[in-house]
Amino acid sequence: MNAVESIFDEDILSRAETWERGARSWPSNERQLMTCARVADETHDVRTFEFRTQDAMPVRFEPGQFITVSAEVAGQRVERCYTISSPPTRPYLVAITVKRVTGGVMSNWLHDTLRPGMTLPAYGPSGMFTATRASAAKSLYLSAGSGITPLMSMTRASLDLGLNRDIAFVHSARTPGDIVFRDELQRLALRSPRLRLFFVCEGIGDEPEWTGAVGRLSLARLSAWLPDFALREVFTCGPAGYMTAVRELLREGGHDPARYHQESFDIASATPPPADAIDSTQQTFTVKLARSSKTFTMSASETVLAAARKAGVAIASSCAQGVCGTCKTKLLDGCVEMKHNGGIREREVQKGMRLLCCSRPASDLVLDL
Ligand code: FES
Repeated sequence: MNAVESIFDEDILSRAETWERGARSWPSNERQLMTCARVADETHDVRTFEFRTQDAMPVRFEPGQFITVSAEVAGQRVERCYTISSPPTRPYLVAITVKRVTGGVMSNWLHDTLRPGMTLPAYGPSGMFTATRASAAKSLYLSAGSGITPLMSMTRASLDLGLNRDIAFVHSARTPGDIVFRDELQRLALRSPRLRLFFVCEGIGDEPEWTGAVGRLSLARLSAWLPDFALREVFTCGPAGYMTAVRELLREGGHDPARYHQESFDIASATPPPADAIDSTQQTFTVKLARSSKTFTMSASETVLAAARKAGVAIASSCAQGVCGTCKTKLLDGCVEMKHNGGIREREVQKGMRLLCCSRPASDLVLDL
């Protein structure tokens, strides 16, 4: 018998109600003012920022979802998506864990400026990269660098709920000192026999006593650690190059692509929405905003988001590539040509939602704004 036992096995979908009960829904694309409650260093260049709503009410979200944070940086409004690293089972604080990126406008501002007590607007939560949408008894979490955050939220939620799920967590980092949440994960694995951890580091950095794996994740390494990996539901988050390598490795190993889920805000890897389809005539159209009664005109070659900005209308956005879903807005009348990169679901499109950053008008429009 194991020294530590879990209580029972149950599908996470049914338990999701537990964390939703009492937590307030935060409609996608609606702005909330969030107060920074705590800032904590995770590694030398990764920091966690915890927020609460201004009225300190619990917030409803799913593990794996993200919020879009907005800040005024050097006189410019900047918006970025960050996956929530905290679990929905602790709904009073919503945490994001941010790596300082060289030249990164928002990440540097957050690290240098954001302190407890300060308030920021945020949108969301949204995103489809959630374990609740692809529940499985056996999961494989694959992450690299700060891509660990959504998987950490899923892991914390699963353990907070006492689920007896078999989770194999394989994380790649530059050095042992760069492993985000290392101590916490090791503590959780000690208490939860069905959570197994595997770290692989490119180098040992300043930790000569490191006895873990060194190098990169390979099919041979994954098969040795987890002979049953092809049977697991896979959730992956990390830089685009890492995820491409992981997909290839899994394909080679015979993993079913239908059981593969990935998340990334590596916008460079997304295909920019083309302007080809309706650009020929340089037609102009009128856009009416139903709620604010504003009106502006735009050409058929522009995206609705870009035209709105030109007209001085502020619309929440982040990636501007049809990836993140932040600019999702209901189209009340008219039609657009939308070329997105996965930031909206078909059933949302059926309900009239569109991503304004990758939509160009094919008629006059009325938007629910
Ligand atoms: Fe990201 Fe439009 S801003 S989908």
